[in-house]
Amino acid sequence: MKKALLIGGLFFLGACSVLKEGGQPPVTLSDEEKVGQTCQITLDAVLCTDSQGRTLVPLKIDTNKLTEALVKYHVGSILNVSWHTLSLSQWNEIHETIRSYYTKGRIKIPVLYGIDAIHGVNYTRGATLFPQEIGLAATWNPSLAEEFGRITAYETRASGIPWNFSPVLDLGRNPLWSRTFETLGEDPYLVSTMGASIVRGYQGKKSSQIDSLHVLSCMKHFVGYSASSSGRDRTPAWIPDKYMKELYLPSFLEAVRAGALTVMINSGTVNGIPGHINKTLIQKTLKDEWKFRGFAVSDWEDFNMLHTVHRVAPDLKTAYEIAFNAGVDMSMVPLSPDYKTYCEHMLASVKEGKISSERLNDAVTRIYRTKDAVGLMNLHQPSMASYTAFGSKEHKAASKQAALESITLLKNNGILPFNPTGKFLVAGPCSNNLIYLNGAWTHTWQGMDTSFNTPGCKTIVQVLQEKYGSNCLFSKGVELFKDKEIEQSRFVSLDDYIQKLNEVEYVILCLGEGPSTEKPGDIASLNLDSKQVELAKLAYSKNKKVILVLVEGRPRIIHEIVGRAEAIVQCYLPGDYGAEAFVELLSGEKNFSGKLPYTYPKYDGVIEFYDRPRSVDRSNVGDFNAFNPEWPFGFGLHYGEVKYEHVKSNEQIKGNAPWEISVDVTNESNREIDEVVQLYVGKEFGSMVPAGEQLKRFQKIKVPAGKTVEVRFVLTKDDLMVVDETGTWVFEPGKFNYRIGTRRGSVVFQ
Ligand code: BGC
Repeated sequence: MKKALLIGGLFFLGACSVLKEGGQPPVTLSDEEKVGQTCQITLDAVLCTDSQGRTLVPLKIDTNKLTEALVKYHVGSILNVSWHTLSLSQWNEIHETIRSYYTKGRIKIPVLYGIDAIHGVNYTRGATLFPQEIGLAATWNPSLAEEFGRITAYETRASGIPWNFSPVLDLGRNPLWSRTFETLGEDPYLVSTMGASIVRGYQGKKSSQIDSLHVLSCMKHFVGYSASSSGRDRTPAWIPDKYMKELYLPSFLEAVRAGALTVMINSGTVNGIPGHINKTLIQKTLKDEWKFRGFAVSDWEDFNMLHTVHRVAPDLKTAYEIAFNAGVDMSMVPLSPDYKTYCEHMLASVKEGKISSERLNDAVTRIYRTKDAVGLMNLHQPSMASYTAFGSKEHKAASKQAALESITLLKNNGILPFNPTGKFLVAGPCSNNLIYLNGAWTHTWQGMDTSFNTPGCKTIVQVLQEKYGSNCLFSKGVELFKDKEIEQSRFVSLDDYIQKLNEVEYVILCLGEGPSTEKPGDIASLNLDSKQVELAKLAYSKNKKVILVLVEGRPRIIHEIVGRAEAIVQCYLPGDYGAEAFVELLSGEKNFSGKLPYTYPKYDGVIEFYDRPRSVDRSNVGDFNAFNPEWPFGFGLHYGEVKYEHVKSNEQIKGNAPWEISVDVTNESNREIDEVVQLYVGKEFGSMVPAGEQLKRFQKIKVPAGKTVEVRFVLTKDDLMVVDETGTWVFEPGKFNYRIGTRRGSVVFQ
């Protein structure tokens, strides 16, 4: 009967009706109860504190606070634990307590608990931590992305949590941005493909009925958050309509098509409009045009920010009204006593008619429908003990496989596979602590607390020492630390580093960044910190053979030290099993197959993306060309070469006929290669400046030694549409140039 009510669209006829436990008749929600459903608080708001308001450890729920929030204010959602990691049994206790309130309230709609499990359930001890999204993107393997989603959903659910604030679908279009590592890179097609795969992994096959092995996904952060011009977190972005539609919106649309049921709104502003009041994007595009049936949640404190930061509301009450009326259904308030103010103001606005009952009912229907879709109404939460695969060997193997497929070989003068005959030195700040492999959102929000590091997981030095014994020397050389939130570095035992340099022929330098995200991750320059650069220069000055290993969330500029390096490996933030994967690749036990999901810049002052218009390329004279990256998007070497030949493509396409293109990929080496075949297409002329080329298809294939594999793509006009001057998607016939692997050609659409 409940389903019939929902399907028949009768769920709301002025009042919100929900079924009581056991299928009894529905109750009608009061305005207070409806407002409460739109309110999300943080777990910290209901935890026991000491007399000075500090949260007590171990965490324990203060039942008075919880009663007030859930029974008096009818709060509909709780989120997170941002500075701690809990065991499964602690999570169990917390959820049991929260769930017991389900029956105490009158309306009997359970609380929806959400968490940022963005690279595994990073706030649960013993969980499987994967590479961060930027590394997942570098695998160019959608099935792996889906597998990551499936395992993370399973372990999130094992922790009692049905809602994951992931994936981030923002385009990594400003490498300065502290959350670049949370993105799937710079390209809309890659982000859309990998993002939709993650959504399918999280939610499972049927998004209208998510089972107890899956979770709700949350598309973040709708939309344009990553494009801030300063690169600083939550600062203004300016995005013309054409690029909003062609670049920033597609990954969200693809996720909606994949069934994503929740969305989190951009904290920043685009074209002078805060994300949270952008009715055109939230209501018109997302809900009306795309028919998104789930609900929109604000980001942290963002209703308040409309008044306090963005200055588009003279007071908090107005701020709540304009955000809610723009289509944001739930407010991540999230603290106490703010949530009480939120509920009280919202109720007053409803009574005054400033928020219509239709709008309130729409929001509550969406929230209820989503809670129902994830199975909250059927009360039977499987016991945590039934999730026997939590942290299992299989899950860890999948994480390691993701690291293996993501780590990208950027340069190799023949020094790799690494097969040292004598002593070698490992150095650099990122060589000997798991926090550098995992980055932020690992055990705590900023990922800096080493006390939570996963026991048994190894650092790069540890794995190398295990493999090469006393031939592997270690001297950190430089360490990173934070001073007033800003990352700094200092030399440590430089004499020791220099002395060990003298003893070896090879140096493996693990350089990069410390964990950080959001505001604390803001940087003023993309250049790699100068002390780390100095470590490389010292090694070069002694004619050592240097392998640069980058452990970083965003591409830090290293131009000065690229030329003399013998090899360069990009690890991104490869997770708990990243060091093992790295060493297997380094030693040649496994082959590299990762490809850059972004353009790696050469200079701080020249940031361009691969799909640039031709004007960016105007000069062919060395550095005058504005597109002159260190490494291009999609680049990555492996052991052995592949050859692209025998391209077969239509030359002319008439009417709505598809365009078929194929290529033979031959492995000329004596070991297996996983190759990512990439098809780029660019229009010769357009009514508006056309992109030079855009990624339109890719496929990761296995090519056995000495064998040839044929790869075939089929495209239609829909794949080649652009947004014209009027903001409309159109197909403009004419000549299109393509690049598939190393081959180029053209096709004319009539
Ligand atoms: C971040 C979101 C995150 C939320 C809840 C915010 O500060 O921008 O990405 O989901 O906090 O932790």
